[in-house]
Amino acid sequence: MNFLLIGSGGREHALAWKLAQSRLLRPEGREPGKLYAAPGNPGVAALAECVALDVTDHGAVIAFCEANHIGLVVVGPEAPLVDGLGDSLRADGFPVFGPSKAAAQLEGSKGFTKALCDRAGIPTAAYARADDAASALAALDDFAIPVVVKADGLAAGKGVIVAETREEAEDAIRDIFGGMFGTAGASVVIEEFMTGEEASFFALTDGATVVPFGSAQDHKRVGDGDTGPNTGGMGAYSPAPVLTPVLRGQVLEKIIVPTVRQMAVEGTPYSGVLYAGLMLTEDGPRLIEYNCRFGDPECQVLMMRLQDDLGEYLYACADNALGRMPAPKFSPDTALTVVMAADGYPGTPEKGGAIGGLDEAEALGGKVFHAGTAMKDGALVANGGRVLNVTATGANVTEAQAAAYRMVDALDFATGFCRRDIGWREVAREAEG
Ligand code: AMP
Ligand code: GLY
Repeated sequence: MNFLLIGSGGREHALAWKLAQSRLLRPEGREPGKLYAAPGNPGVAALAECVALDVTDHGAVIAFCEANHIGLVVVGPEAPLVDGLGDSLRADGFPVFGPSKAAAQLEGSKGFTKALCDRAGIPTAAYARADDAASALAALDDFAIPVVVKADGLAAGKGVIVAETREEAEDAIRDIFGGMFGTAGASVVIEEFMTGEEASFFALTDGATVVPFGSAQDHKRVGDGDTGPNTGGMGAYSPAPVLTPVLRGQVLEKIIVPTVRQMAVEGTPYSGVLYAGLMLTEDGPRLIEYNCRFGDPECQVLMMRLQDDLGEYLYACADNALGRMPAPKFSPDTALTVVMAADGYPGTPEKGGAIGGLDEAEALGGKVFHAGTAMKDGALVANGGRVLNVTATGANVTEAQAAAYRMVDALDFATGFCRRDIGWREVAREAEG
């Protein structure tokens, strides 16, 4: 079987690394299959044949799949899913890992998800949805301060404003309806501010069977101690011990399974990975948001720990056959990844900076996944905001963190930076014993 992996980030490098090891690419007694990636990145290019495809041109993707006998398309990022690429491919008979356009609304529209949670009784923040500034401003009266104001649609992780004052909330509403996030801000969701620790939970589903697929904790702010502006994520580790077995059971039973069931009942079954952003409140886990894809960089740490054949699990999701698969096995070790970003990120990142020392870093035992890198005149350079994901494992978070920073220190990336405290919450808990 041949695979086509769509995307170009660190997440896709990690997926390519595991997919390249799949038995599905090595059927007994037959020609080995091929892993293609569109567009991939220099890290992915060491594992896959990278091809230039315009993923917004569904016809072109289908033509590629036909010409290259693709047996499974794995869609990494959310935009092509929300745009319905999965539907177009499935209509032509190609198995796809990733939800339909209708089901991807779980990430594509915050209002959609809030209304679904209401219908299914899923614990989440109280909310109001408004389609114009006047009604949004009026709805603010029903919420205490701080309050959370969100653009309804996809805004590259930037469409959420936690307002500490009423004025800030009003400004956010005016900015969003003023077009700050383009069409993503045609509608606004106002939410009760929840307090607690955040954690992420992943599940694979084919629309009927649900299989837990690991937990992680992300670090969204750019600076040490969780300061500065939000980013796509500056580092992560897995598992997240804060999600105890009891809490994981509650997340599955009260959040994930009712969501999958409700989506199926409403005629929009969800298939793919369901990534739940959770707030662990005093009243138990509550949903902050869903993503319809693997997290980036959470995927990198999940893949470091996965001991089973990723290709077989993703194919089973696409083939509505997840019920036939045994529970996936993950290493009990901790994996931790540190994002090396280009100076300027999350504003305007400096492109073109030289990167060296990858072999030296990996010789210490972990993996350096490429995100925004490019080859220029035969040399590796920075080509985006988040550039590398330096990933190591250890017996606990403290050890995995030390191992990851040893790798970071072996790298040579003068125009890059990273946080020095990834995993700090758990490292502190481990120090307390
Ligand atoms: P989201 O993109 O929806 O995950 O939101 C980004 C971040 O905003 C989350 O990781 C939380 O830190 C914060 N956030 C979002 N919604 C809420 C909420 N209702 N209460 C408290 N914090 C929130
Ligand atoms: N790291 C956060 C995300 O992938 O949405």
